[in-house]
Amino acid sequence: MRRTLAIVVILAVAALVECKPKEAKRGIRTASQKLRAFMSGLRSRAVADPEERTARRLDVLSKLGFSAEVLRDLKALQMFSRADEDPFCDLKVDCSVDSNRAFVDGQEYRTQSGQCNNLDNYDWGLAGVQHKRLLTNAYDNGKWSARRKSVTGTNRNIVLLPGARKISNAVHATDSDKPLDKASLSSAFIYFLQFISHDITKTPEGDVPTNTDCCNSTNPFCLPIRVEVTDDFFSAGDCYDAQRSFTVLDCDDTSGFQNQINDITAYIDGSMVYGSSDAELKELRSFIGGYLKTSTANFMPEAEDTEDLACDNVEDPDLCFLAGDTRADVHPGLTTFHTVFVREHNRVAAYLGELNADWSDEKIFQETRRIVAAELQRITFNEMLPKVLDSSYVSKYGLSGSYSYNKSVDASVIQEFTFGYRFHNLMPAVFHMAELVGSSVGNTASHEQEDVWQSPGFLLTDNYRGVDHVLLGLVANGCPFINGLMNDASRNFLFVDENGDSFDLASINIERGREWGTPAYYLYRQMCGGVTISAWTDLASTHSADVIADLQSVYASPKDVDLWTGLVTETAVGTSIAGPTMSCLIGMQFANLRNGDRFWYETSDADLKFTTGQLSELKKVTLARVLCDNLDVATMPKDVFSTSGSWVDCSTISGMDLSFWAD
Ligand code: HEM
Repeated sequence: MRRTLAIVVILAVAALVECKPKEAKRGIRTASQKLRAFMSGLRSRAVADPEERTARRLDVLSKLGFSAEVLRDLKALQMFSRADEDPFCDLKVDCSVDSNRAFVDGQEYRTQSGQCNNLDNYDWGLAGVQHKRLLTNAYDNGKWSARRKSVTGTNRNIVLLPGARKISNAVHATDSDKPLDKASLSSAFIYFLQFISHDITKTPEGDVPTNTDCCNSTNPFCLPIRVEVTDDFFSAGDCYDAQRSFTVLDCDDTSGFQNQINDITAYIDGSMVYGSSDAELKELRSFIGGYLKTSTANFMPEAEDTEDLACDNVEDPDLCFLAGDTRADVHPGLTTFHTVFVREHNRVAAYLGELNADWSDEKIFQETRRIVAAELQRITFNEMLPKVLDSSYVSKYGLSGSYSYNKSVDASVIQEFTFGYRFHNLMPAVFHMAELVGSSVGNTASHEQEDVWQSPGFLLTDNYRGVDHVLLGLVANGCPFINGLMNDASRNFLFVDENGDSFDLASINIERGREWGTPAYYLYRQMCGGVTISAWTDLASTHSADVIADLQSVYASPKDVDLWTGLVTETAVGTSIAGPTMSCLIGMQFANLRNGDRFWYETSDADLKFTTGQLSELKKVTLARVLCDNLDVATMPKDVFSTSGSWVDCSTISGMDLSFWAD
């Protein structure tokens, strides 16, 4: 993306009004490389001989109508597969066979990939399976080509949807650091949301050759997003160099349409800490005393091969932490939560090891992983979801009632949920680090958000106390919230590089929905709320008049509105951050993640359950306590997702008593 001209204009205007011009940004990788590193994946699905797969995919693509010229790019073709020949579709795993599950000393634990969590359907929630669709795909050709046509056109007179950036400008732009209009949500809330999102879903991009510039390529797996109109930041005709997601043909469907996959386990099982495959876990474990590996000052290990990881430190370009999820380094706030939960694992493992001297490394490791997953489930459902959803939706989807495993519930990710849960509108424009000074916490350093993407090095600053200061900054500062608006950091400066190239995350979200063949918003409003949308006024129960006017300024029909745009612009219900349709998609997914998880921490299954004493200890867990236990901090609000509570001494925040785990 070239934006030199736009920068000149911005700097000129800035100079006129005596504002401080944005300083030139430095970066080691290009914007495209940064995005690709963030979206890399496909560890879990490498199941067949590449040459054989290439030949099969060639065949499939020629049937989909691609020209011989396009088909020549064999490397790209390796990302495609055909249902009837895809070994993954033919795979049968018998979950009654013990070796297909994970046992230690007779106790069953989760498998690393999620395999056989559901005993009748080994692949529900498994890493590598396709996303489920709630509604029939909306690909323009019903198979794979992106949704580009407006409902206002006809077969003879096709009307195209407006470009993604045009929508982003008209509907999602704000040039101010947005005011808080929700009850005092802290920045810790946002990055914990993201942390949990990285436990549930990661939709990998395909394998377009590294040096391909998708803005100048005919590679069918490219996703160039073009700026088609006058833009006050990018130049018209500029283009974001993005790629289509990896797809597979739906294994159960003979009509031959493509589905995207989840590279990680869907379950809330701590996969962002432990990985989603045995191979990933092997790199993370020390194999002594049940511990995970760490580096100096109790940080995550440093990655040796950083090519596929999302980090790009100005000071220390090679520093990249190795975590269970490749996206861990994308923001210091997120990396802080990763660090805290690795430390929590080792804290618990140390305690269990002392308590049970005869336990093996494997036993300590698996029992600790089970406890950490339970803590994550507890915090997500007890502290996070009640702030995401209005209590009416928490009740409607049974997210707070008693748990009962339902083996007919498939926990796999619903592709539409991945749009409902993209809370990119909550990101602050400024990133603060803070410290306890006297009796109160105050900011000690502030950085523009775009200067901290992919910079985990902030955690090591201040003689390794950076991680504490990042966390205190997250808890002490709020997050912006106005329905649907995103600030410049993520709308103009995403992954900005030294050439000044960058992305707009709103445009990517919109374009992603189209390339996935995700139907328009109105169908989900109908499905979730029973409301038929045929005129703009039909949106009045979910969208403000201002938002409807913005939508109407770009879309030809309310039936064209893209899913992410429609969801994120809904007026949030009550004090929640989600409107009715968004709440429906989030409620459904989290209900499935709970009811369809055989290992859910509240299970009453005699072979899997925690003892009554252990369970009541787990129910005492709060994120505040976990943070106090694993950071060098003395005070914390009891509710770290809110900036309105008072800070209390850590010693007054209760936590779980691990002595209940003595054998
Ligand atoms: C540091 C701030 C963040 C950055 C830089 C970031 C960046 C991104 C990027 C580049 C994508 C891929 C977009 C695509 O190609 O389709 C993405 C996807 C996503 N983001 Fe964020 N994001 C951030 C914060 C968040 C937060 C706070 C949430 C809240 C829950 C969130 C939820 C998601 C979800 C659910 C997806 C789709 C995941 C998938 O299935 O692949 N992100 N994000």
